[in-house]
Amino acid sequence: MNSFDNLLARAAAGRGALRPEELAVLVAARDPAERKALREAAYAVKLRATGPRAFLRGLVEIGNACAKNCLYCGLRRDNAATHRYMIPEADVVRMARSAFEMGYGSAVLQSGEIESEENTARIERIVRAIRAATAPDFAIVLSLGEQTREVYARWRDAGADRYLLRIETSNPELYASIHPADHSWKRRRGCLSDLASLGYQVGTGVMFGIPGQTALDIARDIDFFREVDADMIGMGPFVPNPETPMAGAPFDKTEALELALDVIAATRLHLHDCNIAAATALQVLAPDGRERALLAGANVMMPNATDRQYRADYQLYKGKPCLDETSGQCRGCLSARIARIGETVAWNDPGTPPHYAAKHGGGRAEP
Ligand code: 5AD
Ligand code: SF4
Ligand code: FES
Repeated sequence: MNSFDNLLARAAAGRGALRPEELAVLVAARDPAERKALREAAYAVKLRATGPRAFLRGLVEIGNACAKNCLYCGLRRDNAATHRYMIPEADVVRMARSAFEMGYGSAVLQSGEIESEENTARIERIVRAIRAATAPDFAIVLSLGEQTREVYARWRDAGADRYLLRIETSNPELYASIHPADHSWKRRRGCLSDLASLGYQVGTGVMFGIPGQTALDIARDIDFFREVDADMIGMGPFVPNPETPMAGAPFDKTEALELALDVIAATRLHLHDCNIAAATALQVLAPDGRERALLAGANVMMPNATDRQYRADYQLYKGKPCLDETSGQCRGCLSARIARIGETVAWNDPGTPPHYAAKHGGGRAEP
């Protein structure tokens, strides 16, 4: 067995088996045969963890106002080209309920970052109303940025099960290079600890292809997920947005997709029983980008469940798919794509990450 295959065998045998320097070898693979072996080994680990199944989460983009100014993102507060919206409470609840009725086991409420009592109370009311309008095992997932522990606790008490907060990069210096000086890596890291201590199922993730990022940086990101004991991972390629200060960053679609698939595979091989999302941004790189991610070890897809009228205003990067489709069309489209690669959809299944279930002995932990 050559040394690359040996790394794959060790990684497949147990969670967290490789050191960052070894993970970097996987991430840096360029030989087509090695890349194929990497993705196949990851797929085998996924089959053991969750089977040939895809879990669907309806994504509701509830508003696009943001107080932050991340240098890469179309929603940054200085981007005057973005028309700002906030979906009325009753409509958010209707969209989440419709995700439930369409057979998605969970819904994600996502927006830019707003820290205010008004916003906290609004989300609290929305979460309570969704809880009341859906089944107890329907998972309510929030992705609303950095907040205080008290705010996270209130949302958890209202009935939220999961929280997604990407660390963006585990390297604080690299983080500083893509954010204004008043954005704090340490605070973001602290938020992940607060969320876990409140009993949330915690998701984090990174972007890859950030200017200056190395294979070892990405390997350390993957080991960071293990270190913070993440239950869910959502990663995607950095796609330069022309309306942002990082508009001119180098970008090659083909290489970005190949790298994304390798990083997903290495992450599955290192973490085994976490949920890993096939990011929507992958479909910007290739029409079948998300399905290829499933075959490289991802097990979650996030069909858009936002009313069509809002979709064009929620563009973190340009080229976002599904702008002209309805939620029903996305449902049909994604389930056909999943069937085409020989997998099945886990309809009406909240898809609790096996890693969380193993830690807590079952589904939803009480707050
Ligand atoms: N390219 C790729 N991903 C982006 N995000 C924001 N801007 C971009 C971009 N230009 C991601 C960030 C953020 C998530 C909501 O969207 O990782 O956490
Ligand atoms: Fe706001 Fe998130 Fe975009 Fe940063 S990445 S500007 S916090 S929406
Ligand atoms: Fe929206 Fe294909 S997933 S149209």
